[in-house]
Amino acid sequence: MRKKIVAGNWKMNKTLQEGVELAKTVNRQVEDNGVIVILCTPFIHLSEVNNVITKDSLFLGAQNCASETSGAFTGEVSVDMIKSTGSEYVIIGHSERRSYYHEDDAQLNKKTKLALAAGLTPIFCCGEVLAERQANNHMKVVKTQIENGLFDLSPEDFAKVVIAYEPVWAIGTGVNATSDQAQEMHKAIRELVAEKYGTQVANNTSILYGGSCKPSNAKELFANPDVDGGLIGGASLNASDFMGIVNAF
Ligand code: 13P
Repeated sequence: MRKKIVAGNWKMNKTLQEGVELAKTVNRQVEDNGVIVILCTPFIHLSEVNNVITKDSLFLGAQNCASETSGAFTGEVSVDMIKSTGSEYVIIGHSERRSYYHEDDAQLNKKTKLALAAGLTPIFCCGEVLAERQANNHMKVVKTQIENGLFDLSPEDFAKVVIAYEPVWAIGTGVNATSDQAQEMHKAIRELVAEKYGTQVANNTSILYGGSCKPSNAKELFANPDVDGGLIGGASLNASDFMGIVNAF
């Protein structure tokens, strides 16, 4: 069966020392009870945070990776570098990367393949902006992002990918998708995957919800049959909020 996952995306927050302290607290509180917990830290935190992880259910991830393997790409961080820190996951295609850094589907497809080749698990993000939802285009937008980003992967490779649905209008706004909106989209994503890769692969694909997820709404969101966990921004910066969400399962 598919995995239950709660991943914290710290974004550009926390000094190295603050990040290590947060990771220590989370590590202390994580129970090895079947929920996979992932800390997606800034690049420079990865190695140090890896050193504080002792729990079997706690994993490390990056928030982005380069679309090239190595060489003269000043400021970039490769998948092999990420892997060498002890990371096992990498977020790809977060809406902030898509909008602020103009990462397009082709580039995200390339990053996904590089991550898989390096032995990292991609957490592939998709989601519509408010105008797209208001125009009733949200299903089509997400379908296109997933098809262009992932659907030339082999079934073996696709089976390793985690998908995160993050409606852009819900990110950092305090306005989460309703439980019904999340379920509707997650179900549509799973059906799309089933059409392409078959029911077995679709049923084993973890689809996370992200966007103003907090301890007070996590239980209701995670209770949906097609919501397999969360990708958490703001609430992952505080151990008690983050663990409140992890314990919502
Ligand atoms: P918030 O939880 O702060 O809305 O952010 C969600 C997100 O973007 C996680 O990647």
